[in-house]
Amino acid sequence: MCGIIGCCGVEGAAGALIKGLERLEYRGYDSAGIATISNGKFEIEKKKGRISALKNALKSHRDYAGKIGIGHTRWATHGAPNDINAHPHQSGKFALVHNGIIENYAQLKEQYLKLTNFKSETDTEVIVQLLNRLYSTSCLDAIAKTVKLLEGSFALAILCEDEPDKLYCVRQGSPLLGGVGNGIFAASDITAISDMAEIFYRMDDGEIAEITESNVNFYNFELERVEKERCEFAFEDMRTDKGNCEHFMLKEIYEEPEAIRRTVDAYLMESTIELKLEIDKPEQIYIVACGSAYHAGLVGKKILSELLKIPVTVETASEFRYSNPLLNSKTPVIIISQSGETADSLAALREAKKLGSKTISVVNVANSSIAVESDFVLYTKAGPEIAVATTKAYSAQLAALYLLAIYLAEKFKTAEQAQLDKLKKELKELNKKVSLTLDCEEQIKRLAEELKDIDHAYFIGRGLGYCAAAEGSLKLKEISYIHSEAYAAGEMKHGTISLIEKGTTVIAMNTQAELASKLQSNIDEVRARGAKVFAVTSGIDITADETIITPALHPLLQTSTQIVPIQLLSYYIAKERGCDIDKPRNLAKSVTVE
Ligand code: F6R
Repeated sequence: MCGIIGCCGVEGAAGALIKGLERLEYRGYDSAGIATISNGKFEIEKKKGRISALKNALKSHRDYAGKIGIGHTRWATHGAPNDINAHPHQSGKFALVHNGIIENYAQLKEQYLKLTNFKSETDTEVIVQLLNRLYSTSCLDAIAKTVKLLEGSFALAILCEDEPDKLYCVRQGSPLLGGVGNGIFAASDITAISDMAEIFYRMDDGEIAEITESNVNFYNFELERVEKERCEFAFEDMRTDKGNCEHFMLKEIYEEPEAIRRTVDAYLMESTIELKLEIDKPEQIYIVACGSAYHAGLVGKKILSELLKIPVTVETASEFRYSNPLLNSKTPVIIISQSGETADSLAALREAKKLGSKTISVVNVANSSIAVESDFVLYTKAGPEIAVATTKAYSAQLAALYLLAIYLAEKFKTAEQAQLDKLKKELKELNKKVSLTLDCEEQIKRLAEELKDIDHAYFIGRGLGYCAAAEGSLKLKEISYIHSEAYAAGEMKHGTISLIEKGTTVIAMNTQAELASKLQSNIDEVRARGAKVFAVTSGIDITADETIITPALHPLLQTSTQIVPIQLLSYYIAKERGCDIDKPRNLAKSVTVE
């Protein structure tokens, strides 16, 4: 989704901005632009398409000698992806870039900007036009007046030609942080500036930063000074190259065993799970997340309810936040998010807190909004995930949820200690089992060649197999653009089986021995109607057209190995089809708007 970078007091600001934007590319975008100030005047360039197009445009123009600037990658929401709608937007003495959505932009146009000639179709342009309109002598004053009129979410980086040595930033509901290094930086994502800054400051909602070459002052929207503590990020994790792999996604699949090992080792010492989580015995648990993180939540539900013997409800964050959930201090809410910035998940977290629930987050990005705002954070240790389609972060989320479930079951003595000891032992070995699963790669490449031209696929499974099916189906559709659906295997005959005909591809996920014979019946039903069935099974006998065998482990942990062949299959099918694997069309890595 949109990315912001800003810098002040940086020699060759344009180069630093481009470098930062390239590091934000993974978030997904469809246009990019920068603005610098040189000799008191803006130099603005923006282009539809990749950053390479912006770079080409910059080469053919001026020399961009300024030491201050702002840059943006745009993921279109209001108005098509084109040069005009790309950021920065300018009006009079102001230029700005914006992440988020201004929900009352039409009202503001009507109320304050009736006579203004708008150049773009964006909601963002309203902000810059308002700044221009409300400006008299002080930028800070104009910014404070403007932001108080805005409804929605916004992170802004603003330049003004009258104050050519200052960069202003605003955060309200969209992430933004500051960094001090050789110059001062601002970015929506630490990745953009991690190798240009050493000291970092996280902005909170309702804050304005006034940045000069040597100093940053923070204010609230009433223009009262706010004191800030620096925050720490773990930089050993920050490598973001592809290594020897053609795509980040493949590299990240190979990194899954390590992501699991690091997550488990961070909390499981010898045989004790160490979490500093203070919590009363829950009566019910809610899990809230989006996309793949929601699918991790489905697995979390199974293990939590099995070990804690209480009801566990999983909901997508976009539904949960508007569902008037019945929460109280006995109903903790677990929020799962790789980025820690997903708008709906963050809103769900805030709703849960408001209603008195204890909030526990499972987050990959340190100091992200969800991590900071939740009562307790259990960090996954997957390291930076660059491919838009999650793989290693999902696997690390599963590991974190297993740890949490076992920890709570031990704390409240809701399961046999022998069972928990066995699970902990297997958890320590989980990375090795996942590593062994990667051995199926050659078989998967052959299958990908066979399946590359299919138009539809159906994933089926029972119990944890259904959870793996849901995630597998999402993986296939998002990167290969093959239509795919996941069903609880027993549901097929209640409607969807009418779509099965000769040659339809069905992928069956088998996790639990006790459900295998039931799943087998469902496989037989679709095969009898001509479907070609590929089954992923952990040594449990399943008859299908082809089986992919994964190493056996405790049934409650089985999703961790089941998903790997499907991630690989999705990857190799997408590769056969020539898709843009790391940046699938229309998708963004961190979904910071509703
Ligand atoms: C799919 C994928 C998305 C994310 C979802 C939530 O491969 O990555 O479905 O899981 O957008 O993102 P986070 O985990 O950052 O909250």
